[in-house]
Parts: sequence; C-alpha cells; structure tokens
Amino acid sequence: MNWDDTTGEAASGQAAADAAERLGGPGADRPGGPEAERLVGAAADGEDQAVEAALRPKDLGEFIGQEKVREQLDLVLRAARARGATADHVLLSGAPGLGKTTLSMIIAAEMGAPIRITSGPAIQHAGDLAAILSSLQEGEVLFLDEIHRMSRPAEEMLYMAMEDFRVDVIVGKGPGATAIPLELPPFTLVGATTRAGLLPPPLRDRFGFTAHMEFYEPAELERVVHRSALLLDVVIDAEGAAEIAGRSRGTPRIANRLLRRVRDYAQVKADGVINREIAGAALRVYEVDGRGLDRLDRAVLAALLKLFGGGPVGLSTLAVAVGEERETVEEVAEPFLVREGLLARTPRGRVATPAAWAHLGLVPPRQGAGTGQQDLFGS
Ligand SMILES: Nc1ncnc2c1ncn2[C@@H]1O[C@H](COP(=O)(O)OP(=O)(O)OP(=O)(O)O)[C@@H](O)[C@H]1O
Ligand SMILES: [Mg+2]
Repeated sequence: MNWDDTTGEAASGQAAADAAERLGGPGADRPGGPEAERLVGAAADGEDQAVEAALRPKDLGEFIGQEKVREQLDLVLRAARARGATADHVLLSGAPGLGKTTLSMIIAAEMGAPIRITSGPAIQHAGDLAAILSSLQEGEVLFLDEIHRMSRPAEEMLYMAMEDFRVDVIVGKGPGATAIPLELPPFTLVGATTRAGLLPPPLRDRFGFTAHMEFYEPAELERVVHRSALLLDVVIDAEGAAEIAGRSRGTPRIANRLLRRVRDYAQVKADGVINREIAGAALRVYEVDGRGLDRLDRAVLAALLKLFGGGPVGLSTLAVAVGEERETVEEVAEPFLVREGLLARTPRGRVATPAAWAHLGLVPPRQGAGTGQQDLFGS
C-alpha cells in the first residue's frame, strides 16, 4: 500500500481550498456543490430559500442564542438610534446557516431602515458597486453577502465609501479618463462572510463592529425547532424537538430542514404529531444518525476504522476506499468530523479518535499489537 500521500496534506489542503475560494473556485459552502445536496449540509438549497423567509426571526428579541453577539449588537444599534445617527458598519462572520442573513435583516428592522441586498460575486466591476452605492438612501442598510468574494477594484472603492461616504466615479477611458468625486448619504454596510480569514485587513478594519457567530447549543436549537414548528403549524413535543436538535450540527438551517423532513414522515406514517420515536424513526429513514452524521460521514469513518485500523491514512487513499472524490471527503465530510472530535488531520494522514470507535460501536485494536494493516488481515 502506498502511504506517500499522507505527508503534509493536512496543512496544504486548507490553504489550497482557501486559495480556490478566493479565486471563485469550488468550495463546499456554496450552493450547487455536493454540500447542497445533503440533508445535513449547511448550505441553503432551493427549498430552504423558499421557506426560510417565513422562518426568519424579525427582531433581536426573537433571535435565538448568540447571546454575546445579540447583546453587543443591541448596544450598537440602541446607541446609534439614541444619537439619531446611522449605525456603524457591521461584519458578520460565521459558518453557513447560522443566521448572518437573518441578522442583517434584523439590523435594518431595528434601525427602521430599508435594506438593499447584494453579494460579492454579483459585484465584479467597481462600476457595479458605484451604481448601488450612489442609489442608496440616507440610513439605508447595504447587505453585502459573501463579501470575501468581491473583486479587488470594487473592494478599493468600498474602502473609501465606508470611511468617507464618497466614491470616485471614473468617466471616460484611457488618458482622458477623469475621476468625479460623488458624495454618498451615510449608510450602514453589513458584510457577511463564511471566511473571515480571507478578508484583507484594510477591509476588516473598516467595520466598527464584528460579530463572530458560533455554532448553537442543543438547547438553543430546541428553541429554534419549537419556534419553527409553531410557524409551520406542526405539533411537536419536547423530546421530539430535542431529538431533531441533537442531530442538527449546531446549525439552525439544518434544524429547520430536519424538522420539515420529520414532519413529512409524521404525516405519512403517523398522525402528524412529532415525538421522540417518530423523530428517531424518520431520521433513520433519512440516514441521519444520533450525532448528525449522514451516510457519507459514516462511510468515511467506517473505512478509516475498519480498513485502516483507525489510520493514519492518506486522504487520497481514504477517498478511493469510500468511492468519492478527494475534495468531497476533504470539504464535505471532514470538517464536521474534525469539529466533532471524531477525526484528526495530522501530518502523517487522517487518524480516528477514540470517540470515533465508540460512535460506530467498534473496538480499537490493542496498542502495540502491530499496525492497523496487520489487524486488517489478522482478525
Ligand atoms: N438565531 C436564530 N434563531 C432562529 N432561527 C434562526 C436563527 N439563526 C438562523 N435561523 C434560521 O436559519 C435559517 C438560515 O439562516 P440564515 O439564512 O440567516 O443563515 P446564513 O448565516 O445567512 O447562511 P449562509 O452563510 O448560507 O448565507 C433561517 O431560515 C433562519 O430562520
Ligand atoms: Mg446568508
């Protein structure tokens, strides 16, 4: 067996993914990728987009969890309101589905201001941004989603707009081109990013307030499930909500999606009421296990444990063993397995933790009794 592909890939993998992301290359956190097709994927699919509008909390009081962010944002917004001023620019950073878009809308609602929504990939030329900026009303909230994917020239225009509420509009081409300064009304920029590390420091520094969104605690997700159930007219008991929350990977979007699938099951197989039993049975059908792992996650873990004795094994070898692309294993399955402490990326390759053995109900090979490879052919 060839173990060569283990060296150094733990470090280079993320860097390469970041570089690809910066260039607009494939990334696991974008709609359309393999991530979007999974029941436990954090990216929004078409159905999510259709129903999410109805499930979004409308003000800070309704927004569940993220205590620190809520408290800080509440102060920022209250103070701005009391001064009769426009709120400082806000940067929201965090994984997909944690509530960045929701919070941006709440910021506008709390300020009683209109909101304009656009995204980094939609702004490829500085002119696109100039057109948006020059049409803003005083106090308006400009929500710039995926701000890390904006083009350089647009980024530079944004610096000036954020700091001085001014842009230079270039008229004409070549040597005859002139820059016409244009005053902008004060506005609040709300930037959202899943990759705060990719933002150039000058851009990051121009935000008055940065909110880091954390994954949610199970108790908070239970509240999300109860709230959504009420809005969707679904009857669910406390244990049913806990069952769904525990499998939602700390992410409200996934909790809402699992709730809808469990509701379908309850409608077809039972009287529509969701309890622990129904939720558990439904999620078994959809292959989401007690910790929120799906078929792919479990296949990766099972291969690592059963075929390679828990590792270390190279990413490419592991990917071949589960019949998936390297990128799929690395970008779709591994991040959650690492977060859950089930798998570690080491310089020598992927390694399963004791928790991984326990989760799949397997017994790790004895220490010092040879390598995983021998165990493979031994017992
Ligand atoms: N704190 C919360 N309380 C209740 N529901 C929430 C909360 N945060 C998010 N949600 C729900 O989760 C869904 C996804 O949230 P949202 O679209 O704001 O995530 P996002 O961070 O913008 O994701 P992406 O990075 O994919 O754009 C929304 O439908 C919203 O109803
Ligand atoms: Mg969003």
